[in-house]
Amino acid sequence: MAEPDRDFRSRYGPWAVVAGASEGLGAAFARQLAARGLHVLLVARRAELLRELAAEIAGTHGVETRELAADLADGEAGAAIEAATAGLEVGLLVYNAAVSVVGPFFSAPLERHLAELEVNCRRPLELVHLLGAPMRERGRGGILLMASLAGSQGSPRIAHYGATKAWNRVFAEGLWGELREHGIDAMACCAGATRTPRYEAERPVDAASSAVPEMEPEDVVREALAELGRAPSMIPGRVNRLAAQLMQRLLPRRTAIELMGRASRSVGVE
Ligand SMILES: NC(=O)c1ccc[n+]([C@@H]2O[C@H](COP(=O)([O-])OP(=O)(O)OC[C@H]3O[C@@H](n4cnc5c(N)ncnc54)[C@H](OP(=O)(O)O)[C@@H]3O)[C@@H](O)[C@H]2O)c1
Repeated sequence: MAEPDRDFRSRYGPWAVVAGASEGLGAAFARQLAARGLHVLLVARRAELLRELAAEIAGTHGVETRELAADLADGEAGAAIEAATAGLEVGLLVYNAAVSVVGPFFSAPLERHLAELEVNCRRPLELVHLLGAPMRERGRGGILLMASLAGSQGSPRIAHYGATKAWNRVFAEGLWGELREHGIDAMACCAGATRTPRYEAERPVDAASSAVPEMEPEDVVREALAELGRAPSMIPGRVNRLAAQLMQRLLPRRTAIELMGRASRSVGVE
C-alpha cells in the first residue's frame, strides 16, 4: 500500500465525490484519489461496476468508499447525492460524467440534447452549489470539472456537446478567480481524445487511421491532479497543448471550426 499524500489529503480530504466514476476517466480519478489517501464516494448508473471499483480501491489503498447508483440525468440525482454525503466532509468534487450526443445536430431528438444539458451543465451546477458552499465555509477544498478541447471553439457534429464543455471551462475558471482567496481550487480539465470505453465505443475507425492524438485515462488524470491549485484550466498532453495553441491563437476562428469538423469526420462521425 502506497503512502498517502498528506498535503493533498489535508487540502482536499477527507472525502472526494467522483460523479461518473464507474469506468474510464472517472474510475482513474477514483483510483488516483484513493492512492493519495482520500475516501471516495463513487457515483454512476452501473451499480455492479461501482461495487467492484469500491472493493478494489478500498483493498488496495485502505480508504473508505461509498457507492451511489444514480442517473445524473434525473432531476432527483442532486438530492440523492446530498443524502449520500450527509455527515461527510467532502473536500473535493470531481465532476466527470457527460453525455455526448454525436452526429448531425438535427439527427438527435431534442430530448437527447436536453439530457446532455442536464448531465453536463445542470448537475455540475447543483453539485458545486451543494458541496462547494461547505468548502467555502471551511476555507479549503477543490472543484474539478471535466471540460474538453471540443469546447474551445465550435465543433461540427458535436455542436451542443462542445457548447456544454465550454460552459464547464468558463464556469470552473470563474470559480477559480472567485474562490481561491477562500482556499478553494477550482479547475477545468480540457482533455483531448482519451481512450475511455465510451470514446472507443463511439470511434468506429482504428487509431492508426485517425489524425487525432489519443491519451490514456491514467495519464490525463495524473496531469490534471498535478495542476489542481495551479491553474484555472489545463490541457493534458503536450501534443494537445500545441494543437490548442494553433487552433486558438494562430488560426482564424472559422478555420479552427472547419478543422474540428474534419477531425470529427476522421474518427468516423458523420
Ligand atoms: N474520452 C474522451 O475522448 C474525452 C475527451 C475530452 C473530454 N472528455 C470528458 O471526460 C469526461 C469522461 O469521459 P468519457 O465520457 O469518455 O468516459 P468515462 O470516463 O468512462 O465517463 C463516463 C462516466 O460517466 C458516467 N455517466 C455517464 N452518463 C451518466 C449518467 N447519466 N448518470 C450517471 N453517470 C453517468 C458513466 O457511468 P455509467 O454509464 O455507469 O453511468 C462513466 O462512469 C466527460 O466529461 C467527457 O466530456 C472525454
